[in-house]
Amino acid sequence: NTTVVGIHKLELYIPDSYLTLNSLAEHHDIAPEKYILGIGQSKMAVPSPDEDVITLAANAAQSVLDSLTSQEAQSISTLIFATESSVDQSKSGAAYLMGLIDIQSNCRAFEIKQACYAGTAGLQMACDLAKTRPEESILLVASDIARYKQNSPGECTQGAGAIAMLISANPDIVEIDPERGFYSTDIMDFWRPNYFKHALVDGELSKDAYLNIMNKSYLNYIHKGGKSLAEFDWLCFHQPFTKMANKAYRHLKESFVDEMKDKTEASYAITQTYGREIGNTYTASLYIGLLSLLDNAEQDVSGQKIGFFSYGSGAVGEFFSGTINQNYRLGISTKHNKLRLSERHEINYDTYIDYMYQTRDVGQLEHIKSQSKFRFIGITDHKRVYQRCP
Ligand code: CAA
Repeated sequence: NTTVVGIHKLELYIPDSYLTLNSLAEHHDIAPEKYILGIGQSKMAVPSPDEDVITLAANAAQSVLDSLTSQEAQSISTLIFATESSVDQSKSGAAYLMGLIDIQSNCRAFEIKQACYAGTAGLQMACDLAKTRPEESILLVASDIARYKQNSPGECTQGAGAIAMLISANPDIVEIDPERGFYSTDIMDFWRPNYFKHALVDGELSKDAYLNIMNKSYLNYIHKGGKSLAEFDWLCFHQPFTKMANKAYRHLKESFVDEMKDKTEASYAITQTYGREIGNTYTASLYIGLLSLLDNAEQDVSGQKIGFFSYGSGAVGEFFSGTINQNYRLGISTKHNKLRLSERHEINYDTYIDYMYQTRDVGQLEHIKSQSKFRFIGITDHKRVYQRCP
């Protein structure tokens, strides 16, 4: 089967508000350089109380739908929702989206989970589907709110956002190669029990596991006939915080000396631009890295090759690759993304604590209205209620 498949559209949505890491450092009474330089984050996107993973996803997905021709829209056979901040144990985020966005009802809709890896699981499933059924396309949404315990070491790596992609045959943005390398194991480096709103983490174990599993995934990718690291123009890593990409790059340099000898930090630095301003978005993070590269590269990057590493704690890793298509600018909204990032407003520490950690009763959301096209307006009879604003 010679059909080329991959990412045809790629859209981002982030909340209106952010907290600076300077403010957080001040309240933690530590040097801001630790967060800004040591962790590599300058801002953290903070969802307001009327936003959740469903509303973030709905905004990103609707942007993709708005950019499609009617023929493209009709070709959508599947809606996949990837998240680790799910709002229900039974009903999928995708089912909620069916009621909010302009998508045809004759499609299958479901949610998938494996920590931050789920976005990539969705992407590869979608590519396989598009390869066997090139007349179908798949709307994939990765949406997450990264929340750790207040005053814990993970707090500085929080963030929120969603990515939506249309996966199809003959894609405009990135053609995904068929070779993929995997490594999975059972460890407790990061997890969220059903009764907690925030994740628990063994920080040191998580960083080591990420790096070890990256090498093992790459070796498996090579074993399956994948490209040498030397062949990539760009490297794009899962970024729980941007400094983790620096660690990943250094680890590859130390482990694969020959393949990496001509590589410099310029091979990944541009993938960090957006993440530094948004924070961790779990399933969306790797693809925000990709968008950061496509939106911010000064030169035309058509034809260039990217090596991707996706990591989901618990843990699953996948190394895969792709080539940027000459039409890539048609599938992204560079101006809009940059405007969105610059037009957000800063909130102070007290508002951040209120937004991130306060649970509200029904009716209390009336006074807090984000700019979002889709709002969460409360829970009635144990049912989450959403609204699409005109
Ligand atoms: N100026 C400059 N740098 C400073 C500094 C200062 N004044 N003070 C400290 N630093 C540096 C440290 O030297 C360190 O740098 P290196 O990592 O290069 O050694 C860096 O700042 C961080 O310092 P610590 O290691 O002391 O930080 P910490 O232990 O308080 O927390 C963390 C770091 C473990 C990553 C924590 O933020 C955390 O648990 N985060 C959540 C888990 C996570 O993101 N894990 C990543 C892998 S798992 C994954 O990828 C899946 C996922 O999305 C969660």
